[in-house]
This record gives sequence, C-alpha cells and structure tokens, in this order.
Amino acid sequence: MLEDCRIISNTRYKGDYFKLVFDSPRISPLCCPGQFVHVKIGGPADRILRRPFSVNDACDGQIRILYKVVGDGTSFLSRLPPGTICNLMGPCGNGFGDVSARTPVIVAGGYGAAATFMLAKNSPKKGFLLAGARTGAELVLIEDYRRIGFDVMISTDDGSDGEKGLVTSLLDKFIRERKSCIGDFSFHACGPEPMLYAVARKLQSEGLDGEVSLDHMMCCGVGACLACVVRLRKQGGGWKYSRTCTDGPVFPASSLFLD
Ligand SMILES: Cc1cc2nc3c(=O)[nH]c(=O)nc-3n(C[C@H](O)[C@H](O)[C@H](O)COP(=O)(O)OP(=O)(O)OC[C@H]3O[C@@H](n4cnc5c(N)ncnc54)[C@H](O)[C@@H]3O)c2cc1C
Ligand code: FES
Repeated sequence: MLEDCRIISNTRYKGDYFKLVFDSPRISPLCCPGQFVHVKIGGPADRILRRPFSVNDACDGQIRILYKVVGDGTSFLSRLPPGTICNLMGPCGNGFGDVSARTPVIVAGGYGAAATFMLAKNSPKKGFLLAGARTGAELVLIEDYRRIGFDVMISTDDGSDGEKGLVTSLLDKFIRERKSCIGDFSFHACGPEPMLYAVARKLQSEGLDGEVSLDHMMCCGVGACLACVVRLRKQGGGWKYSRTCTDGPVFPASSLFLD
C-alpha cells in the first residue's frame, strides 16, 4: 500500500541517530513486528529510489522509525521538518513469527534494536535483550526495553558500556548458563550482517531455532529488481536464492548459508 504521510516529528535522538514519527492512519494498523516501510525521501534525482526502514513501533495511527544518518538520503531525511509529506510503501516484507509460546531472547546490533522492539512490546512474556554496539554512545533504545520489562545485557567493542567484546559472546554465555532449559526460549536477531551470520552459526551449532532479520541493500522493495537476493539453504539439502524484500527480511536462522 502507498500512503502520503505527514512527518509529525523528526528529532535527533543521540549521535547520528534520529527518531521520526509519521502520521499514517492506513499503513500503521497493518504493521507487524519485523516489517519495514519503504520511504520516498524526495530531493535530488539520485533519491528516486526509496529507502527501507524497519518499523520501530506502529500504534495510534502513527509509524515510528529510528534511523542513523549514513549517506545522502538519510542526511536529507534528517533535515525534513514536521509537516513534510513523504510517500510510504508498506508494510513490506515478512516479519517475525509468533513468539507467544516461549520467552524471547533478542540479539541486537546497533539500530537492529529498533526492528525488534515491536516484537518485544507485543510479547506476552518479558524476555531478554542482548544489545551490542561499537561504543556505549551507539547503543539505542536500552531504556525503552527496560521500561517494557525486558532484562538487558550489554556488550561494546571498546568496553565503554557492559562487557567488552561482541554481542555473540553474550549469546554464548546466555546459552551456556541456561543449557537445561534452553528450549523455553526463542531467539530473534537484527543487526549488521556479519553479526547475524555469527548468531546463525551459533544457533545452528547448538541445534536451536531462531530468526534473523537481514539488513540487506534494497532497491525496488517489491521483488522485481533482484538487488536484494541472498543465498539460503533449502530444507532437505541444496540452496536457493531468496529476495530479502519480499521473502524476508526475517528468515529462519537455520536457512542462512554459512560457507
Ligand atoms: C529491511 C531494512 C530495514 C532497515 N531498517 C533501518 C532502520 O530501522 N534504521 C536505519 O537507520 N537503517 C535501516 N536500514 C538501512 C537504511 O535503509 C540505509 O541506511 C539507508 O537506505 C541508507 O540511505 P542513504 O541514502 O543515507 O545512504 P547511501 O548513500 O545509499 O549509502 C551510504 C552508506 O550506507 C551503506 N548502506 C546503504 N544501505 C544500507 C543497508 N541496507 N545496510 C547497510 N548499509 C547500507 C552504503 O553501503 C554506504 O556505505 C534498513 C535496511 C533494510 C534493508
Ligand atoms: S529490492 Fe528489488 S527484488 Fe528486492
């Protein structure tokens, strides 16, 4: 669905991160955890392509996005004032599965914590957030997760917050310490691709189910251009190409091709 959405607010959250709220009476009620919206930012011709952003939250006819300024498009977006109209396409993609049966464990790197927030908020069981970033200044939404009752564990590459090291070390420790009851938990990850492949490797080696949300380069967002294909394992052997925009961005961790 396409919708012209008015920017209600667009403010710096911390560092290069911004929080953007759209008025979206039509798309917002349809959004499920893990889905994204494809935003036409406007401006010069090179931004003819939309930019994908995970739905951080969708309620009361609004869509919230947390984004990091990384290039021309997001830089232009960060300067759009309230009242600006942007065309949104969405909700796009397949989001996370039903998490009601088990306690969710979310592994998030950087703004990956935005993509998993609705899953956490809607989960009947309060779970765990294992959050990683390069530095403490790049951790996002930690207080939001605590406010909804999640237990938060933190790691940073430079040790400026939480444990020094990678978020996958937190996952190793989490699994090691709960071996006897590990089947009570479901695992969901979003963040940089190397982190997601490391999470998938760990889950596969432990024989655990899980879901990963791939933040892959996209163009059309509707399955037509094939810019976003990833190689996935097929059940029963072999592999296939899948489109991140329409088949994902959330995939079973067991389907990631690790070779
Ligand atoms: C499904 C999905 C959900 C996303 N959700 C969010 C979100 O919630 N918050 C957020 O800040 N960003 C998110 N992204 C990434 C976001 O779409 C890109 O950062 C944005 O499109 C960059 O636009 P730009 O014009 O500023 O950068 P460009 O000028 O296009 O690129 C600048 C730099 O960013 C890199 N880059 C561009 N796109 C991506 C990408 N998809 N992944 C990694 N690096 C990229 C480029 O390689 C380049 O180095 C998501 C991407 C996908 C595919
Ligand atoms: S972005 Fe075009 S097929 Fe996925």
